[in-house]
Amino acid sequence: MNIDIAACSSAEDVLPALAPVWHYFGATPTAQDGTRFLPFIEPSRAFAAKDSGAVVAGCGSFPFELTVPGGTVRAAGLSVVGVSPTHRRRGILRGMMRAQLDDVHRRGEPVAILWASEDTIYGQFGYGMASVSGDIEVAKSATAFAQPFKARGEFRILGETEALAPLAEAYERARLDHPGMIARSEEWWRHRRLADPESRRQGAGELNRVLLSLDGRPSGYALYRITQKFEAGISAGYVSVIEAVGATPEATRELWRFLFDIDWVAGVKGMLLPMDHPLFFLLARPREMKFRIHDGLWVRLVDLPAALAQRRLGEGAPVVIEVADAFCSWNAGRWSVGPKGAERTTADAELACDITALGSVYLGGFRFAQLERAGRVTELRPGAAARADALFPADRAPWCPEIF
Ligand SMILES: CC(C)(COP(=O)(O)OP(=O)(O)OC[C@H]1O[C@@H](n2cnc3c(N)ncnc32)[C@H](O)[C@@H]1OP(=O)(O)O)[C@@H](O)C(=O)NCCC(=O)NCCS
Repeated sequence: MNIDIAACSSAEDVLPALAPVWHYFGATPTAQDGTRFLPFIEPSRAFAAKDSGAVVAGCGSFPFELTVPGGTVRAAGLSVVGVSPTHRRRGILRGMMRAQLDDVHRRGEPVAILWASEDTIYGQFGYGMASVSGDIEVAKSATAFAQPFKARGEFRILGETEALAPLAEAYERARLDHPGMIARSEEWWRHRRLADPESRRQGAGELNRVLLSLDGRPSGYALYRITQKFEAGISAGYVSVIEAVGATPEATRELWRFLFDIDWVAGVKGMLLPMDHPLFFLLARPREMKFRIHDGLWVRLVDLPAALAQRRLGEGAPVVIEVADAFCSWNAGRWSVGPKGAERTTADAELACDITALGSVYLGGFRFAQLERAGRVTELRPGAAARADALFPADRAPWCPEIF
């Protein structure tokens, strides 16, 4: 078998490179599917593996600006990874990850991020689980707030085109407050958040785009669908909240009250919520939202010092960390990590870990001490994990409200 892995050379090559992963969705990518990827993944960021000229695997990455504690960083958002079942477990994924991470490194993007289809796949390539994410399912009868309030926001359901500007404005007000959020271009909004082709409904109703204004200003929005069904004449339908973002705590409270108050459904489902979502304290009975957690964003530090330079670092004496990185060996070695960033050192190591651990703490979703208790970080000097934690301050849980 002679497999050739290379970047796509033209826009026409990109759609076929999506076909291997589409196979697992039970479909062949159409031109309509392509609108979610082709405008954002330029050909040189997409890779295809070919066997005798036929595409058998593919992957690509979006060029993102990702919010991190205290700032933003350029990040490659890995997506559409697939290897045809005819060619699995022959090292093709490994070959693509090699080509792709080398490419990201060359481009000077300090980190790579992804959502994993399976949590077992990406650790070996240096990605660390960096956040957890939750889904909820609340019965209508359990949506009372602990502290009822008089709503004062104005809500309007907007059409696909008119929604763009105000929703983008509200999102932009929230984005820099949340590590894990990505900057969205107009095209991104149009093709990936607001468009509503039949193929994306999967049995649910049409996409609703509701804007919340407070004091005349776009302050939040929700994207939701209603799935209606009846049992013995009573609605067993539900509202599925795809994304609800408030620019302020008041806006978040108003938005969820609005969503919970939609009549003629049995309950409300929500997805991809951060671990510290205000609903835990807004709801009178938070247990009733049945918050189920799963791994969220995965982060790979592609260029260790460049990645740390973009993130707020705390005060304190530097900690010397021995980093193992078998896949991107340029990161491996001993680093002195302090308030000013990371630099190479020959001093004795105080902590030892794999690069995945640094991905896990990067957005503030996990702590060194927590990883130490799980055997993912080794303390070579007592107290070093706590000192490292002080260097990686985080004031909220990471939140990426969309799977890309
Ligand atoms: C997951 C997938 C991309 C793996 O591709 P592949 O070419 O078979 O993987 P490779 O042969 O390069 O495997 C590389 C290593 O990863 C391991 N691996 C691959 N898939 C794995 C999985 N699903 N779970 C655990 N380990 C996995 C292999 O065992 C191998 O380890 P080794 O080098 O120690 O032997 C492929 O099975 C696939 O397309 N799956 C369905 C779509 C999907 O899940 N895509 C990912 C979207 S995020």
